[in-house]
Amino acid sequence: MRWLAAPLLLAAALLTPDPAGSRDLDAAVGKALFRRIWTVAGASNRQSDGLGPLFNARACTSCHEGAGGGRMADGAGLVLRFDDDPAYGRQLQTAAAPGHEPEGRLEVRWQPAPRRLADGSTVALRRPVPQLVTLDAAVESGRGSLRLAPGLAGLGLVEQALAEAGEPGGFGLKAAHASLAQPVTEALLLDLGLSTTDHPEPWGDCTEAAPTCRQGPHGSGDGEGGVELAPGIVQALLAYLRFLPPPAPSGPLDPDGLHLFASLGCNGCHRPELGGLQPYSDFQAHDLGAGLASDERDAGLGRRWRTAPLWGLGRRLMEGRPLLHDGRARDAEEAILWHDGAARTASAGYAALPEAERARLLAFLERL
Ligand code: HEC
Ligand code: HEC
Repeated sequence: MRWLAAPLLLAAALLTPDPAGSRDLDAAVGKALFRRIWTVAGASNRQSDGLGPLFNARACTSCHEGAGGGRMADGAGLVLRFDDDPAYGRQLQTAAAPGHEPEGRLEVRWQPAPRRLADGSTVALRRPVPQLVTLDAAVESGRGSLRLAPGLAGLGLVEQALAEAGEPGGFGLKAAHASLAQPVTEALLLDLGLSTTDHPEPWGDCTEAAPTCRQGPHGSGDGEGGVELAPGIVQALLAYLRFLPPPAPSGPLDPDGLHLFASLGCNGCHRPELGGLQPYSDFQAHDLGAGLASDERDAGLGRRWRTAPLWGLGRRLMEGRPLLHDGRARDAEEAILWHDGAARTASAGYAALPEAERARLLAFLERL
């Protein structure tokens, strides 16, 4: 079995049934798996994990460092998604196993989009335009939807809170996944090229247009349901994610700031309270307008994004992590000014505030 090559701890945990008390062990195993650097399937099919044939990274931590979100500067955690493209499938894979070619390279070109506020000051917003550089150096500009990896802390508790409250809400940047297990098996499929019982296809995201990619060596074995990763691996990853506490606030709550936040209507989507948690999100998707759309032609799903949870925002800003689904915003103000569609009133309300009030709201956000 594939995981015999992994540390003994892992093997031990997967062989033990699941008595109460083994949850910490599961989480520890999951943490090791989350950091694990997976290996490409060899021709011999033994001692290998089945990474690829196409992949973006070798480890979850490559994009979610410390279970956090991606960065923009070095492109870590940034991917290009498609709506089932005949050539690229659902995601552009920028790396490949030996004997295969990556689908291309991802670059970002920045387009200025300055915005004037009511008091006459200007904010230098900028929009990322994905550049897909293919192997023969051709550039496809502006195609696909850029996505930056979100932080993962606290999501297990959110899953539990939503279930207990019987509320809708979900995971992934479009809130398309009802459970946390779905984005995990999707990450294994699209980001690492590792098959699971949820996504048993060993060729991952290789399309029918690439038959050699589909027929390449892979790590699927007999006796494991024909998949590269046993269900215990997904369970351990989930145990780790469920064990992660929510991000801690970086300062005391400012009641006047919260009042301002509410009076602008921010809390309609960024719910301060959810089942005893303070995620500042409803975990539902909303139309945020054409400027942020993944597909402007599609006024439905294309413009919809999940309310980004604001917990831990101060810490993220301090670490220089960019905001919004594609990392276009360098600070909270830029993020707010990109809000349009269902959040147009809130965003316009912010832009109309006098400077001191804007500063008050931003200071409030920086302490979340
Ligand atoms: C190549 C970069 C990359 C790698 C590697 C990666 N992720 Fe992600 N992850 C992303 C991106 C981008 C998203 C957002 C995708 C979307 O919803 O559009 C995401 C979303 C998620 C989500 C949903 C988070 C939420 O807020 O709802 C989970 C859970 C997750 N990843 C877990 C994992 C796990 C576990 C691994 C390793 C098996 C992993 N990821 C590897 C980039 C990556
Ligand atoms: C109609 C729902 C809605 C309203 C109202 C709304 N937001 Fe948002 N907010 C969102 C969504 C959806 C996103 C994610 C957009 C994206 O990823 O492109 C978001 C993202 C953000 C982010 C970026 C966070 C991150 O981690 O990327 C900040 C900051 C933010 N909102 C603050 C505010 C403030 C302040 C207000 C009030 C002035 C507000 N929002 C009103 C839905 C809303």
